[in-house]
Amino acid sequence: MKSSVSLLGALATVVVGHGLVTDFWINGQHQQGFLLDYYYAKKNGGTVPDIAAWYAENLDIGFVAPTEYGTAAINCHKNAAPGKLTKTVPAGGSMSFYWEAANKQPWPHSQGPILSYLAACNGDCSKADPTKLAWVKIDAKGIDYSTQRWASEDLIANNNTWTSKIPASIAPGNYVFRHEIIALHAAGSLNGAQNYPQCFNIQITGSGNAKPSGTLGTALYKADHPGILFNPYRTITDYPMPGPTLFNG
Ligand SMILES: *[C@@H]1O[C@H](CO)[C@@H](O)[C@H](O)[C@H]1NC(C)=O
Repeated sequence: MKSSVSLLGALATVVVGHGLVTDFWINGQHQQGFLLDYYYAKKNGGTVPDIAAWYAENLDIGFVAPTEYGTAAINCHKNAAPGKLTKTVPAGGSMSFYWEAANKQPWPHSQGPILSYLAACNGDCSKADPTKLAWVKIDAKGIDYSTQRWASEDLIANNNTWTSKIPASIAPGNYVFRHEIIALHAAGSLNGAQNYPQCFNIQITGSGNAKPSGTLGTALYKADHPGILFNPYRTITDYPMPGPTLFNG
């Protein structure tokens, strides 16, 4: 009895800081996201269901730090591996993402932008190598200067859910969708920002022909970018959005 209690204590410590997308929707249709249960099942030799969401080890403190911007982890989180399935989304359609924080609390970080990216798989996304994916930014919201309200606050007000639109002009094909929150509450100090990226395999359908070129994960962000090394505790009038130029499709 005593040992199982201390094991529970250890597990509770492990999951305290996590944040992950447990559910997502395509044009309002529910899809299974990645659950921490799957991490423990895999670790214990159990089976993990086939889903379109990527496996990732969003454990310990639960985020990718600027010190890891030069590593594969910035793509789709730590030790990420593609989901086995791919879900169909029509160009112009929407995807919504529900973020679960530890103990199903509201998302704890109300300061920071929310971004979404697409990367062409050039083949089956279940075999994608995250270090080869070139990301195109398709959605980025920072702060509303008139209300001083961050995208993260909008997410919390909307039941921890964010909706992005697939550009109508994007060429059909297989893509990894990368959705990300960047928490800035500690970003006033070097390496204090917290990136929470999550990935999903999708097949975009339609008749668009835009094939914008993307940016490798390791080139997306720099620790000293003024939107990453950023003090949020003041009136904000000019937030420089990190990452490459937004694709306006
Ligand atoms: C928020 O979304 C989650 C996931 O879909 C759902 O389980 C929960 O009931 C929702 N809560 C509210 C207050 O709508």
